[in-house]
Amino acid sequence: MADSLVEAAREAQGRAYAPYSNYPVGAALEAADGRVFTGCNVENASHGLAMCAERVALGTAVAAGARDFTRVVVVTRSDPPASPCGACRQVLAEFAPDAVVTSVGPGQTLEWTVRDLLPAAFSRSQLP
Ligand code: THU
Repeated sequence: MADSLVEAAREAQGRAYAPYSNYPVGAALEAADGRVFTGCNVENASHGLAMCAERVALGTAVAAGARDFTRVVVVTRSDPPASPCGACRQVLAEFAPDAVVTSVGPGQTLEWTVRDLLPAAFSRSQLP
């Protein structure tokens, strides 16, 4: 797959800090206004503090004022490629339940919507 969002995610993957898992991940988010935001996983000697590429990208985007997203691309080294973890699904659902998520590995590409990945997500509408 060779579109510009995949390229952006690949470049971010190259900046991953993943010395513990040796599993670099890159993510790219396309905002409704056309802007692209990227993230990579950022691990830590205290392993539980690892940040996933998707949430790094989302935090970067929200901090820049973007809240509506159309697409998310995740690039990993594995086939099948990684789908976003449960925590990232919940965080993506907050802003982009209808966004299309594309996971790209060396040979395989998978696609879902955020809603497919997290049906019946908890949302702000359930708060009292
Ligand atoms: N990881 C991500 O960044 N995104 C995913 O979609 C799957 C997992 C990271 C977390 C950790 O740094 C490494 O991949 C191995 O789990």
